[in-house]
Amino acid sequence: MNSHHPEKRLLILVGSPRRDGNSAALGAAALRGAEAAGASATLLFLDDYIQEFLPDLRRKPAPSDRYAELFLEHFLPADGALICTPIYWYGMSAQTKAFFDRSFGHYAGAGPEPERVKARMAGKRLGLAVASEETYPGAALGIVHQVQEYARYTHSDFVGYVHGVGNLRGEVEADPWQPLEAAARLGADFFTRKYSDYRIETPRARNVWESAEQPTARERP
Ligand SMILES: Cc1cc2nc3c(=O)[nH]c(=O)nc-3n(C[C@H](O)[C@H](O)[C@H](O)COP(=O)(O)O)c2cc1C
Repeated sequence: MNSHHPEKRLLILVGSPRRDGNSAALGAAALRGAEAAGASATLLFLDDYIQEFLPDLRRKPAPSDRYAELFLEHFLPADGALICTPIYWYGMSAQTKAFFDRSFGHYAGAGPEPERVKARMAGKRLGLAVASEETYPGAALGIVHQVQEYARYTHSDFVGYVHGVGNLRGEVEADPWQPLEAAARLGADFFTRKYSDYRIETPRARNVWESAEQPTARERP
């Protein structure tokens, strides 16, 4: 049921500096789920690739860190990306934000290269895993909204979201809402889980799930 199309590639990006932290644990759980389902999945830590913010590219050359490798060789070819970030000040970590900002250096401007990049930025499946100390659901909403806007802008599908609570390294494992299991499921069915985002004219059945009983005509309002 959770089987992947074997050709689909999932990229898991971790935006915490803590290799043994909670975002990393959520990402690792998603990686295990994806691999168990037969997908090709890769987990990378953003700060292995990103050392600088987006500069004024008219005044400075692109930073000589490994962002281009990350963006061109890992992100663009991926069919889906799972962004894993700690909540820092009710937003994503600076590492994670820099991942989005630095893409400007590759898609901005005119010419065949930016056009090629924009075409490959579009149409991915996107997921989000956040780790925070606070349980308050509102703490994550700014990040959820930002990823949703990125998805809208790039014609991507924001297919799932997991929120794990913990503060000590790896403490999400003790979160009674079991976010590691949720992250593993998200990894497992990243490319197959149902995604819907209707417009008024979207044709659809009244039931959402196949298993739901079909109502008879008399039961319809
Ligand atoms: C700079 C900084 C800012 C933080 N801001 C928040 C916050 O606004 N809300 C929150 O719930 N936790 C906040 N935290 C706690 C982290 O989100 C929490 O420890 C999380 O589990 C860290 O994830 P990691 O282990 O992947 O680094 C903050 C931590 C740091 C270091």
